[in-house]
Amino acid sequence: MYSLLSHNTFGIDVYASRFLEYSSTDELKWLIAREGITAPFLHIGGGSNLLFTGDYNGVVLHSRIGGIEVLRETERDVLVRVGAGVVWDDFVVYCVEHGWYGVENLSLIPGEVGASAVQNIGAYGVEAKDRIVSVETIDIHGKERVYAVDECEYAYRDSVFKRPENKSVFVTHVCFLLGKEERYVLDYGTVRKELEKYPSLTLRNVRQVIVDIRKSKLPDPKVQGNAGSFFMNPVVSKEKFEALRSAYPQMPYYELSDAKVKIPAGWLIEQCGWKGKSLGPAAVHDKQALVLVNLGGAKGSDIIALSDAVRASVRELFGIEIHPEVNIIS
Ligand code: EPU
Repeated sequence: MYSLLSHNTFGIDVYASRFLEYSSTDELKWLIAREGITAPFLHIGGGSNLLFTGDYNGVVLHSRIGGIEVLRETERDVLVRVGAGVVWDDFVVYCVEHGWYGVENLSLIPGEVGASAVQNIGAYGVEAKDRIVSVETIDIHGKERVYAVDECEYAYRDSVFKRPENKSVFVTHVCFLLGKEERYVLDYGTVRKELEKYPSLTLRNVRQVIVDIRKSKLPDPKVQGNAGSFFMNPVVSKEKFEALRSAYPQMPYYELSDAKVKIPAGWLIEQCGWKGKSLGPAAVHDKQALVLVNLGGAKGSDIIALSDAVRASVRELFGIEIHPEVNIIS
């Protein structure tokens, strides 16, 4: 049995029957050929978006494929190939230090590069898909396939790699196209305003602003177990939105292109009175209600009990169903 405590940022004390790591595509192929990995298996990244509800009676796989390699560079942009096991924020720092634009708004997101392409991580007006060009994979039979970005079916926190039929497809490398010309995305929330504190608009300062905003709202998993946003922001019809807005004129929202509106789940949860409240050893974070935290010694079932209670409140007060963004592994 192998402890998964250091492999899930929620800090849930569970075990896997086996744990396998590999540091290259060849090593993964060799493992597959030698071990003949059979179900159940689970491929994890940094464990920052997982909730284990009990021991995992199967093989847990983890990539340690490293490397940031420049494939092509012009005066305008640079194409880089990054190993799935590279820590996401190390990659962001590398880009910022090299003067490459495009991922600075995604600073400090926990996790690894492989998972960024599976989950289509996003923050402050940018999503991973905006910079991904292609995703290299190997399946459980050792077959390689490169997905062009158009084949990845990217949507809000979603991709083809999350489909159940692709559970045995593992990301080995991700190719990103980054700009070398100054271009920022500053219109989300308070980003532009916070930048006024800095003397100049630079990549480093944009990163610092994002880091500061995140640190002020999101709990550090090293201090308090959590997996970032526990729920996705719900998308409702224009009619539903209008009805809600007349009852709650101060409700924040983002209009989407197809007559739909996204409502921040954090706001809905706060209106239900859950912000900072706990249920047993699980709590709703006091600075961002979208985040559930482990107060210490929580089991997966404690977090689920809180999630169910929060979802029921939101359903009752607003008639809106909110869904976990975190992958629940049972
Ligand atoms: N809000 C509240 N109360 C709260 C939390 C939020 O009223 O407790 C309001 C805020 O005042 C604001 C709006 O809701 O008007 C949006 O809040 P915020 O900017 O914090 O973003 P979010 O929609 O709650 C999403 C992502 C985050 C990402 C931020 C910034 C999802 C599920 N979450 O949160 O991503 O960092 O936007 O772009 O889309 C994650 O995925 O783990 C994550 C942290």
